[in-house]
Amino acid sequence: MSPHLLSVDSLSRDQVDHLLRVASRMEPIAQRRKITRVLEGAVLGNLFFEASTRTRVSFNAAFCRLGGSVCDTTGFTFSSMAKGESLYDTSRVMSGYVDAIVMRHPEQGSVAEFAAATHVPVINGGDGPGEHPSQALLDLYTIDKEFARLGKSLVGAHLLLTGDLKYGRTVHSLIKLLSLYDPMRITLVSPPGLEMPSHLIDLVTSRGHRVEQRESLANDFSDLDVIYTTRIQKERFTDEMSESFNGISQDFSVNRAFLESRCNATTIVMHPLPRDSRPGANDLDVDLNGDPRLAIFRQTDNGIPMRMAIFATLLKVEELIEKDLREV
Ligand code: CP
Repeated sequence: MSPHLLSVDSLSRDQVDHLLRVASRMEPIAQRRKITRVLEGAVLGNLFFEASTRTRVSFNAAFCRLGGSVCDTTGFTFSSMAKGESLYDTSRVMSGYVDAIVMRHPEQGSVAEFAAATHVPVINGGDGPGEHPSQALLDLYTIDKEFARLGKSLVGAHLLLTGDLKYGRTVHSLIKLLSLYDPMRITLVSPPGLEMPSHLIDLVTSRGHRVEQRESLANDFSDLDVIYTTRIQKERFTDEMSESFNGISQDFSVNRAFLESRCNATTIVMHPLPRDSRPGANDLDVDLNGDPRLAIFRQTDNGIPMRMAIFATLLKVEELIEKDLREV
C-alpha cells in the first residue's frame, strides 16, 4: 500500500479487500470489548481546514482506541496559514511533531501537495470536491455488512447514487472503489448541472459496469439494492448557481413516499452525512428515521473500525493488534 491514503486510485482490489477484513477484525476494539495499546506514544495530527464532525472525531477516536494521542487544529483562523504560511512549510513543520496526519482542506489537490512535503503518512480527509477515500472505504464496508445480513452479493447489484454528484467528493471516491469489483448496475440521478464528472463515468463503464444517467427519481427502482444519497454542496456554488438551484433539492429528496412507492423491502438507504435539515433542503427526509432500511447510523458507526484498519495498515501494526486480539 502507498505510504499515504490520498485517493482510492492508489488501492488495488486486493488491498481494498484486505482493508475490509482488517476493519472486521477491529470491531471488538472499536466496541471496547477488547483493548490494545499498540499506538501508545504515537501522535496523530488532525488538521481540518473545513467543517467536519464525523471524519475529524472518528479518526481521532480510532487513533485513541489503538492507544495513540491526537493533536487537533480546526479552521484556518487558528492555524498559521491565516498568517500566510504555505502548505509546504506547514507540512514540514508537522512532520517533526506527529507520526501520521489526517487533513481536510477546501481545495482539490491540496492534501496531495501537503503529503509531497512530509515523510509521515497522510490521509486525505476530504480535499474540496476531489476525494474522500476513507469515507468510500467505510461506505463499501457498510454495503458489505448490510449485504451479508440480507444474503445479497455485490455481483450484479443495482446501486443508485443521487444528489450532488458533481461536488460530492464521497461519491467520486465510492464510484471508483465500486468499479474495482465485478460488474454491477449503477444509476446516477442528479439535478441538472450537478452530474457525475464524465471521466468517472467513462472509467466505470470501461471496467464493465452498466451506468445509466437519469434526470429524476420518478422512475421504477423496484430492483434497487442501495440508495446512496448526498447533500447539495451549496458551499461550493457560485452566487449565480445558488440562485438557479433554490428549491430544486426538494425534487431529489429521498423520503418514505419514495421508498414505499419506487423501491423494495430490502433497499438500504445510505448517506455520508451530514444531511441538510434546513428549510428548503431535504436530501434525506427524517420521515425515514426508525425504518430498518435506513443504514446511515450503522454507516457512521462503521467509520471507527475502518479508520482503525487504515491506521493499522499505514502504520504497519496489524500483526501487533492481532497478537493483542489473541491474548487480551
Ligand atoms: N461524511 C463526512 O465527511 O462528514 P463530516 O463532514 O462531518 O466529516
